[in-house]
Amino acid sequence: MDTVKNSPIIRVLKLSKSFGENHVLKDFSMDVQHGENLVILGKSGSGKSVLIKCIIGLIDADKGDIQVLGNSINGLDQDNMDILRSKIGFLFQSNALYDSMTVRENLEFPLRINWTKEQRAEGAEAAVREALEDVGLLHTINMMPAELSGGMKKRVALARSLILKPKVILYDEPTTGLDPITSREISHLMVRVQQKYDTTAVIISHDLNCIQITSNRVVMLIDGTCYADDTFEALSKSTDPKINLFFE
Ligand SMILES: Nc1ncnc2c1ncn2[C@@H]1O[C@H](COP(=O)(O)OP(=O)(O)O)[C@@H](O)[C@H]1O
Ligand SMILES: [Mg+2]
Repeated sequence: MDTVKNSPIIRVLKLSKSFGENHVLKDFSMDVQHGENLVILGKSGSGKSVLIKCIIGLIDADKGDIQVLGNSINGLDQDNMDILRSKIGFLFQSNALYDSMTVRENLEFPLRINWTKEQRAEGAEAAVREALEDVGLLHTINMMPAELSGGMKKRVALARSLILKPKVILYDEPTTGLDPITSREISHLMVRVQQKYDTTAVIISHDLNCIQITSNRVVMLIDGTCYADDTFEALSKSTDPKINLFFE
């Protein structure tokens, strides 16, 4: 059992992905360990979203392998992919809330797909309330997304990704478009989530405040590969101009 416990939660092995002549990922490799908050830092268009979409199987890579929670996603059929996805929370940059549904209905949505009718009758309301309490927004349960601020929408989207108690959370630019104070609040919330749920997270961000607060480690995605891999502290002191550029 120890070998399973100590093996990486996510393992990306020599992943390549091109769109025509646009070679986005070139033999990109990384490991994410249990309990880590790993940040992927790279400039706009460098392939960060493509990478996490490959991890969750929304985009097929051309070459290489991805292992999540011990499963190689290459070999998974649809049913097993769905089971694996239910263990992964994915926070889209756009939040992807359903505008025509209340906050409660948005949070119930993953339960409709993953829980039986009996499980929902018994536990849905408590699960929705707990997830909303975790993000400090229980009072919004009957509101519509349009009534919420940008930061509140982000929290509701996070609550929805927590409702199935995921082992892994993938965050795509969780603070982009938010003011600095709200960004900081969201970043601290991400750390609390990691502690409460014992999750492992991959966080795409170029918000230095967010990275400093959330990251245990930072991978720099430059020219399609893992250019550097170190703590925020160490990278921010780097004298390499390619790295330096991100910390000015
Ligand atoms: N579905 C797609 N079809 C064609 N090109 C794509 C697609 N998705 C992403 N790309 C291209 O891949 C590159 C990386 O995109 P992306 O991962 O979204 O960048 P970012 O690092 O900003 O998240 C960009 O050049 C983008 O235009
Ligand atoms: Mg992106």
